[in-house]
Amino acid sequence: MSKVTEISHPLVLHKLSMIRSKDTGSKDFKELVKEISMLMTYEVTRDLNMEEVEIETPVCKTKCKIVAGKKMAIVPILRAGLGMVDGVLSLIPAAKIGHIGLYRDEETLKPVEYFCKLPKDIEERDVIVVDPMIATGGSACDALTMLKEKGARNLKLMSLIAAPEGIQVVQKEHPDVDVYIASIDEKLNEKGYIVPGLGDAGDRLFGTK
Ligand code: PRP
Ligand code: URA
Repeated sequence: MSKVTEISHPLVLHKLSMIRSKDTGSKDFKELVKEISMLMTYEVTRDLNMEEVEIETPVCKTKCKIVAGKKMAIVPILRAGLGMVDGVLSLIPAAKIGHIGLYRDEETLKPVEYFCKLPKDIEERDVIVVDPMIATGGSACDALTMLKEKGARNLKLMSLIAAPEGIQVVQKEHPDVDVYIASIDEKLNEKGYIVPGLGDAGDRLFGTK
């Protein structure tokens, strides 16, 4: 079974409370999503392999550690996942970016695919899939399946808010994928929204409602 990590750092929780508020406008929402994503990346990358190198300080030669040259990719689920990319990139600037386009049909709540463009060597990369919300878990599961079909093997999923139901679905369908969440909320409501959640992440990021 995969590992689920809830990142309950005070700065993450503080910023999360700000984006939950319906009074937070799209400009602040965007900046806060970026900042939370950057802070979460610190935890998501905790197990990166290190290698020893010799360097020379102004005082003497010494052996010290750097991140081993592992290739990474960030894959946002469109649209709302786009809001998390810059935060992750600010700590992993050499990562390549793939895009997966999925939207939830409002009636069936099932994800509908409309785009997939990934780095050519995706099978060689450690992949962080980003999407602010895991509600039913359908979009995250489909994105992970699409990535596996293209050969990706080392996958992690990073989201801001998840419903317990959605996490269970992801864990069942993708037991090999570790999941990182800032908050596991209470439940889904009858319309498939996370409670208390933050509303529609895509609309709040891009000001489309
Ligand atoms: C939202 C969110 C997830 C999905 C979660 O996207 O960003 O991708 O819903 O719901 P699920 O777990 O039930 O699949 P949405 O479909 O609203 O598209 P958007 O990002 O383009 O607004
Ligand atoms: N997608 C969102 O953006 N918000 C929810 O609460 C559920 C799905």
